[in-house]
Amino acid sequence: MERTLLMIKPDAVEKNAIGRIISMVEENGFRVVGLQSKHFSREEAERFYEVHRGKPFFNSLVDYITSGMVVGVMLEREDAVRKLRELVGATDPREARLGTIRAVFGESIERNAVHASDSPENALRELSFFFR
Ligand code: CMP
Repeated sequence: MERTLLMIKPDAVEKNAIGRIISMVEENGFRVVGLQSKHFSREEAERFYEVHRGKPFFNSLVDYITSGMVVGVMLEREDAVRKLRELVGATDPREARLGTIRAVFGESIERNAVHASDSPENALRELSFFFR
């Protein structure tokens, strides 16, 4: 059974969507095996999004992700990484398939409600920010 990280971002927390997002993943065959809220420091946010350092949106991304609480959700199912990315939808909510989490809750390419790990290796790395 594979594990992955879903991170519910500050825009979705602010609009009281935590429960509805977790319902969507549960209804799609995932089991919640860990749940942890936190407020990222700048240093942690920069490390979490390390691969995007130097990109034009990096500073704004770090401002946004440190602007409020985020929720780390450890999820389990077969093929979890791939299946979760399908359910999350495209980075830009305007391009996300109907019924995906970002199509329902995303506001913009930055404020796009959730993050999902893009490989099993990154899932392990990203889960370690929330769970020991
Ligand atoms: P996420 O999947 O968490 O990965 C990187 C994040 O950077 C992305 O979601 C968005 O929140 C943010 N972002 C802002 N602008 C862009 C962009 N032009 N391309 C990709 N990601 C962006």
